[in-house]
Amino acid sequence: MKILIVGSGGREHAIAWKVAQSPKAEKIYCAPGNAGIAEYAECVPIGAMEFEKLAAFAEENQIDLTIVGMDDPLVGGIVDVFEEKGLRVFGPRKNAAILEGSKAFSKDLMKKYNIPTAAYETFTDPQAALDYLETAKFPIVLKADGLALGKGVLICEDKEMAVDGVRQIMQDRKFGTAGDKMVIEEFMTGREVSVLSFVDGKIVKTMASAQDHKRAKDGDQGLNTGGMGNFSPTPFYTDEIDDFCQKNIFQPTVDAMAAEGRPFVGVIFFGLMLTEDGPKVLEYNARFGDPEAQVVLPRMKNDMIDVCEACIDGKLDEIDLQFMEDPCVCVVLASDGYPVSYEKGFPIRGLENFKDKDGYYVFHAGSAFNDKGEIVTNGGRVLGVTALGKDLKEARANAYKAVEWVDFDNKYYRHDIGKAIDEA
Ligand code: AMP
Ligand code: GLY
Repeated sequence: MKILIVGSGGREHAIAWKVAQSPKAEKIYCAPGNAGIAEYAECVPIGAMEFEKLAAFAEENQIDLTIVGMDDPLVGGIVDVFEEKGLRVFGPRKNAAILEGSKAFSKDLMKKYNIPTAAYETFTDPQAALDYLETAKFPIVLKADGLALGKGVLICEDKEMAVDGVRQIMQDRKFGTAGDKMVIEEFMTGREVSVLSFVDGKIVKTMASAQDHKRAKDGDQGLNTGGMGNFSPTPFYTDEIDDFCQKNIFQPTVDAMAAEGRPFVGVIFFGLMLTEDGPKVLEYNARFGDPEAQVVLPRMKNDMIDVCEACIDGKLDEIDLQFMEDPCVCVVLASDGYPVSYEKGFPIRGLENFKDKDGYYVFHAGSAFNDKGEIVTNGGRVLGVTALGKDLKEARANAYKAVEWVDFDNKYYRHDIGKAIDEA
């Protein structure tokens, strides 16, 4: 089969690596891809938002299956464009990707179908939001309705911060049209867990749990980022919690989408908070997480193509999803200054150290070839250094050992990825 992967981050590298192991994969393309993905796939210089060009490429090259990794094209309707042309594509249609694309939509869905989540109100008028803050309890959480590169959530300690937040989101339009609407939500406390799942429109099968580290600096300090590293599984996601989530969150979400005439096909990433009152949904994503994909896919035993096809065909019940016991840890190597401003173009040294090392992976998040053909840094997040181990502590030690194998100017990473394991 000929496969096209859409995206250019560490998640898409992990997907390409996983697809490449399938005996069914004859040829893999990735648009636009990166220097690491180029090891498994022919990178095609078409942007992820250029739907017509991508579909034309898929037609011309007789692509049998397209896998979309990123949120923006999914929310923008890439799957609908491909389907209209009779092309097979893995991912939710626009009317289902709204689960991630609109926080107001997802909150209303949860309320209507009694799926546990934080209490909230939705606003389209900034003055109404400001009035609401007069009597609200703090801290409180403000969320821009639309996609905002994972940055549209503000946790406000007091009224002053919240008033400023409403101005930023709804008046200054810091996140553009994502701020046309806003959700104001109750602040929850607890441990955060991500659960990735495959969905075929009717049923859901969960992959593995993971714990992200969203803040830029050690000790969960600094700004929110796309994710600085993570581990899978998380020991805090017990069988009992899983049982509750399967019954009260996962399948009910898939049923609710089907009942709304928006059947969801693809990956749902459930962002959960394990509160004192039980697990509650923080957010939904309509795709693999990044870097969650980097710790979950190395543990998956199934053939990626088989699972994607089963989802598209509504036959996920025929798949026995299986995961290795061995846990996995990913440490993101970023460019110093991420997520604000950083330099690019520095040569990356030592990538060859990962060759033929079983259980060690280096997924490229932001890399490119320079005109000398060297692999150079090309983003805020540069590499996801990932390792398996017989237990979480060993996986963590292995990942941090491998962090030393690669180097580039301005290399920056958190030293405490997986610290929570010690509390388990
Ligand atoms: P989201 O993009 O909705 O996952 O939000 C980003 C991050 O903000 C989450 O991973 C949480 O750490 C935090 N967050 C979001 N909503 C809440 C909430 N209601 N209470 C506490 N923290 C939250
Ligand atoms: N790592 C969080 C996300 O992909 O949204």
